[in-house]
Amino acid sequence: MDDHIRGADFAGKVRTADEAAALIANGSTIGMSGFTGSGHPKAVPGALARRIGEAHGRGEHFTVSVWTGASTGPDLDGALAAVDGIDLRLPYMSDPVSRAKINAGEMDYVDLHLSHVAQMAWEGFFGHLDVALVEVAGITADGRLIPSSSVGNNKTWLELADRVILEVNVWQPVELEGMHDIYYGTALPPNRKPIPIVRPEDRIGQPYLECQPEKIVAIVRTDSPDRHTEFKAPDDTSNRIAGHVVDFLSNEVRKGRLPPNLLPLQSGVGNVANAVLAELDDGPFRSMTAYTEVIQDGMLQMLRSGSLAFASATAFSLSDAGMADLRANIDSYRERVILRPQEISNHPEVVRRLGCLAMNGMIEADIYGNVNSTHVMGSSIQNGIGGSGDFARNAYISLFVTSSTAKNGTISRIVPMVSHVDHTEHDVHVIVTEQGVADLRGLAPRQRARRIIDHCAHPDYKEALLDYFDRALAGAPGKHTPHLLDEALTWHTHFLRHGTMHLG
Ligand code: COA
Repeated sequence: MDDHIRGADFAGKVRTADEAAALIANGSTIGMSGFTGSGHPKAVPGALARRIGEAHGRGEHFTVSVWTGASTGPDLDGALAAVDGIDLRLPYMSDPVSRAKINAGEMDYVDLHLSHVAQMAWEGFFGHLDVALVEVAGITADGRLIPSSSVGNNKTWLELADRVILEVNVWQPVELEGMHDIYYGTALPPNRKPIPIVRPEDRIGQPYLECQPEKIVAIVRTDSPDRHTEFKAPDDTSNRIAGHVVDFLSNEVRKGRLPPNLLPLQSGVGNVANAVLAELDDGPFRSMTAYTEVIQDGMLQMLRSGSLAFASATAFSLSDAGMADLRANIDSYRERVILRPQEISNHPEVVRRLGCLAMNGMIEADIYGNVNSTHVMGSSIQNGIGGSGDFARNAYISLFVTSSTAKNGTISRIVPMVSHVDHTEHDVHVIVTEQGVADLRGLAPRQRARRIIDHCAHPDYKEALLDYFDRALAGAPGKHTPHLLDEALTWHTHFLRHGTMHLG
């Protein structure tokens, strides 16, 4: 037929998005592709949202549950949430419409470690999977699927679902073929075997996804871009954070604790992470590698310049310029990039073996080093834990990087006690803000508190944090991790009442 759909056998299954959406029944659970705005289905979710909206207009109940790899785009999460079409969502989202519905209590959301999703689906904790709705870059003549710009949980959805709808997106470069490594060797205990990755560049699977042809009920052609992820030019704050990270890593090399080309990098999402990558690109390290979840523009630039020799991930998350660069140089990138299922890209066994250097953002940290990555003021979800726990818990060095304040300085991101905990004090090795670096390794709680306040807190909040800590030392019943429980969360309650954490 063409470069994207190569087998004549599939011609009879080509449908419009509306026809494919009509195959999805009220109450269905759908495993969709998509990870950080790339590789999600672009047409059927919108058609399904229209169908749901019309059903609601007639007074009929119609919702679906949506499982994905991670965040998608407004054409999937946004469209379905806007018509109140999602009953339950997992495992990660960053969509503003969904966020509002979840925080209003109108949508259930299961926020999961991304490496856990496939195994929990196999174990059956989320229920039965009716439909897999998966974007691919193409279908080979013998019916194997060429994955697109993300892999996520697609292997699992295609295996578990009763029926499969494929979106073949001709916008996706068909030259992605060969970049992926789909591992079919996973199993549930007690039948697990070691995952044989000892270097980020190790290939252990095959370049294609498999799917029983009889399960495919529709193939929809699309020609739509991934979500564009535009990055802000690094500002003074992110440049200072990035500078501190590079200084810290240089010092680790000088001390002989890291090799000159470091250990495989894991870099979280967002502008600060991108700024850190830019600084690493300009920094002293060469021939670095990455074993990470997402390849953002910064990492592509590092591959282009040669500071990064190889990157393993599960998805791209690129700006328009980044995508243009990927297209223009795809043959060269295919030699130095592997996209894997997210249960492998984020696998604790591999992360621990490789000794990844994990760098993730956060909402807030407390003076003892507990980190909140997910909840604003204790109860409102921001995005989700994503892969941050997969990496932070198992990394050789786990860094959390952030500005010291939020919302124009009205919020201190260093607080007496975090309003929600995602990463405990045991999993947080280093905190970096534009103020400096707090290396917490080997320190007892009271030592950690002094170091975090001294090195990371904004000057506007330092005195109040020290005052809290000193009074907690004097007044707390236990002196191991001293807290004044009546007061520990008053910074947050003060913000909720008065719009600022300045208590004065
Ligand atoms: N209290 C209240 N609001 C806060 C806050 C705090 N302590 N810290 C940040 N915010 C708000 C910001 O003001 C901003 O709101 P806005 O969009 O209305 O301006 C929003 O939260 C995002 O904060 P920002 O400073 O832009 O942070 P970021 O882009 O670096 O993202 C996380 C930080 C924690 C939200 C993000 O890193 C994340 O989702 N992490 C979890 C998943 C993860 O780590 N994935 C990577 C693993 S591979």
